[in-house]
Amino acid sequence: TILILDFGSQYTHLIARRIRELGVYCELLACTTKIADVPFKPKGVILSGSPYSVYEKDSPHVDPAVWDLKVPVLGICYGLQEIAFTRGGRVHSSDKKEFGKATITISGSSRLFEGLPAELTVWMSHGDQVEKVPDGFKTISATATCPFTAVEKPDENIYGIQFHPEVTHTQHGSTVLKNFVAGICGAAATWTMATFVDKEIERIRSIVGPTAQVIGAVSGGVDSTVAARIMSLAIGDRFHAILVDNGVMRLNECETVKETLQKHLGINLAVADAGELFLGKLKGVTDPEKKRKIIGNTFIEVFEAEAAKIEAAVEQAGKGKIEFLLQGTLYPDVIESISFKGPSATIKTHHNVGGLLDDMKLKVIEPLRELFKDEVRALGSILKIDDDLVWRHPFPGPGIAIRVLGEVTPSQVAIARHADFIFIEEIKKAGLYRKISQAYAALLPVKSVGVMGDARTYEQVIALRAVETKDFMTADWFEMPYDILKRISTRIINEVKGVNRVVYDVSSKPPATIEWE
Ligand code: XMP
Repeated sequence: TILILDFGSQYTHLIARRIRELGVYCELLACTTKIADVPFKPKGVILSGSPYSVYEKDSPHVDPAVWDLKVPVLGICYGLQEIAFTRGGRVHSSDKKEFGKATITISGSSRLFEGLPAELTVWMSHGDQVEKVPDGFKTISATATCPFTAVEKPDENIYGIQFHPEVTHTQHGSTVLKNFVAGICGAAATWTMATFVDKEIERIRSIVGPTAQVIGAVSGGVDSTVAARIMSLAIGDRFHAILVDNGVMRLNECETVKETLQKHLGINLAVADAGELFLGKLKGVTDPEKKRKIIGNTFIEVFEAEAAKIEAAVEQAGKGKIEFLLQGTLYPDVIESISFKGPSATIKTHHNVGGLLDDMKLKVIEPLRELFKDEVRALGSILKIDDDLVWRHPFPGPGIAIRVLGEVTPSQVAIARHADFIFIEEIKKAGLYRKISQAYAALLPVKSVGVMGDARTYEQVIALRAVETKDFMTADWFEMPYDILKRISTRIINEVKGVNRVVYDVSSKPPATIEWE
């Protein structure tokens, strides 16, 4: 395992991502973690970048015990400055930022740069830089303005680089990381999804034991389906999946989920048919955060009632007790929660099942907590889950309720649903679905004048939204070919009653968000 200590750079999770891509397992911990508390013996340590400056009063510093580990250390950006700072070098603080591409010239024959050309284009993002290296360090690459873009102390296997190898703009960045983790640290490439499945199934069996039962919510998304699949492979019928039909899922979604989980994957599934309850509570509500709160709370209520039914049945049959709640948490959420800066500001409250734990005395089990989204998809394929589901765009917990702007009524939901179905169908037909990260149709609560045949119409507007994004924190609107837009708009206007106008959303995030509400 490679240990990454996170000093808060926006790129830290990419370091983890790149190393996992090399087949090497790594874990990310807050930079303030005491080395004695690290629950594994790392083969190497990476110190990440940071928005701080090493000389600031409250800037974070690594536990000096890291040097007693006697394993290779690589400092990236702030990590390099931290090495200089803690080992007797000097850092020059500067308000001037170097941000963007730079060309570095490599000198000597460092193991870090093995197999690389003498010049590299790299990604820089820093203000401060090292101006004096600690004793025993030598420079292994420089630029015109940054004399210590890379340094090493080979006898102790300490390396520092000012640029960001984890960012794709850095040429051969992955090779630099590979030279470090595989070459210098000697970490084996044993991290594959196939080995993960076997280990995870074993882990689940040992945690759950021979009789306890597990419940978990499924939504039809890839995360909850993969999590449910692993659970059912591990403990079979002792896992109970619950699908809450909240009345604001997509067209035919409930049926599809049922078919996939029950029929294809043989998972024990209960469906709580609660559409009317949700829509009843949403009546008259237009505020987006209120909608989220109502849906979140009602979800918990319905889920708990369903769980109680299952519990009663299980106990009556003398089959043990429900002791665990399955959650499909992914690694980015874990990273967010362990960041030493704390979770970022709440723009929208994405609570889906978060509140469940407060009410039910269950222990959480999270089979995907070490994985990134693309690893979950790879896992889904290995576990023979349908391609359609594995590549499904994310769908928000509050569903169509936050895509019907204004009041959510059954007829409004039906319009949004139908338009969304046509939009997605056409995107799939055009072979664009996987290029787009997320796409949906929103129903706007405005009416506009149109003409159909000889008659004036006065009907609502559908806004189409399609974005490309890697992390959903920022997103670009998707450049949809005109002919496809034309086909989609014609179909929606002709086929969806109540709509006479279609618009395409050309706003990026930020400042717009992906959802309209
Ligand atoms: P925004 O609109 O914040 O969306 O740019 C970013 C991603 O989060 C999804 N999203 C939600 N997911 N509950 C969820 O489970 C929510 O309340 C919620 N709001 C937004 C959104 O679909 C996008 O993928």
